[in-house]
Amino acid sequence: MLPCALNGAARCCMERSASGRAFSTVRRFVLGIETSCDETGAAVLDDTGAILGESLHSQKQTHLDAGGIIPPVAQQLHRENISRVVQEALDRSGIEPSELTAVATTVKPGLALSLGIGLDFSRKFVRLHEKPFIPIHHMEAHALTVRMLHPVDFPFLVLLVSGGHSLLALAKGIDEFLLLGQTLDAAAGDTLDKIARRLSLRNHPECSSLSGGQAIELLAKEGDRLAFHFKSPMGQLYDCNFSFAGLRNQVTLAISKKEREEGVEKGQLLSCVKDIAAALQHTVASHIAKRTHRAILFCKSKGLLPQHNPTLVVSGGVASNEYIRQTLKIVTDATGLHLLCPPSKFCTDNGVMIAWNGIERLKQGKGIMSHSEEVNYEPKHYFRS
Ligand code: KG4
Ligand code: ZN
Repeated sequence: MLPCALNGAARCCMERSASGRAFSTVRRFVLGIETSCDETGAAVLDDTGAILGESLHSQKQTHLDAGGIIPPVAQQLHRENISRVVQEALDRSGIEPSELTAVATTVKPGLALSLGIGLDFSRKFVRLHEKPFIPIHHMEAHALTVRMLHPVDFPFLVLLVSGGHSLLALAKGIDEFLLLGQTLDAAAGDTLDKIARRLSLRNHPECSSLSGGQAIELLAKEGDRLAFHFKSPMGQLYDCNFSFAGLRNQVTLAISKKEREEGVEKGQLLSCVKDIAAALQHTVASHIAKRTHRAILFCKSKGLLPQHNPTLVVSGGVASNEYIRQTLKIVTDATGLHLLCPPSKFCTDNGVMIAWNGIERLKQGKGIMSHSEEVNYEPKHYFRS
């Protein structure tokens, strides 16, 4: 903890109270940097959560064209873009590096080669400008983004569904999470991405620039979900874990069968892609909703959620999906929980969520390091159960 260093870079400004009397407030500013997967993101926030400047470079199209994320390619793209993205966020914010209170950067979990670029850049930056450094856990950042937008008190239940994770946890504090369930194999987003690729959705005129999950959601809108039946995973297992590998297998078998029937070659589109998308999306939504329902019942039975306004927060890229949100709303309405999902742009990876996590840590004086301390990244790092 560096209280002196933290106070050193605050900006003092005069504001008026409700009674009209002038008083001075100290504003603090955090630069957040995200490079854990395939988005190079940076943002500058003040301690009220106001976004002063942000910039995001997405590698999505490159990885779609390559048929998946190739880590050295992701690393090279982060390397090429990080300086520009950080400079853009700073320029847009009007904040000089000298005025920053701290720099917060994702150090876990993620792709080692991608994390390394953000961390190397940040290390050099904080040493050059002699700023405190706040290492950030990417999933904690997803879980806490909602508090930048709504006054949500701890504890709350959080469902995180992204390309790399599917988990349910009780958020008890900014760095205290009780893991209730996680995926036993693949993540929800990864499964949607791989099935979208298997269906060659990149060759669909409306889907060429969409992530797998986005493509499935778009096509599902016009599909008949009853045209295919995929079994919901883990029906006999009474816990809060997830599993998507078996579902992927079922869908792949159905696709192969249809391809044989229609005489469709590799790279061509099946006539029934919309129906497959609708049935797949429904099964994913139903699996997520069932495990979330179980987690809510568990928390209620153990008195883990507050009586007043118990809340389910949903975030991560897959949480952008409207169908999944609506399915979860049925669960929260039935159990008396309040459902909160950040808007889509804050569900997928970005620099804002990292800067906000830095602000939360700054306010509580947790996990703040000096610019000269050694920090390493940890590609695989999950919440403890
Ligand atoms: O959180 P995120 O941006 O990156 C990770 O930390 O993984 O999530 C990306 C994932 C991808 O798998 C993508 O297909 C999925 O989120 N996704 C969606 C939607 N938008 C993005 N899945 C379903 N429906 C969507 N609308
Ligand atoms: Zn993420």
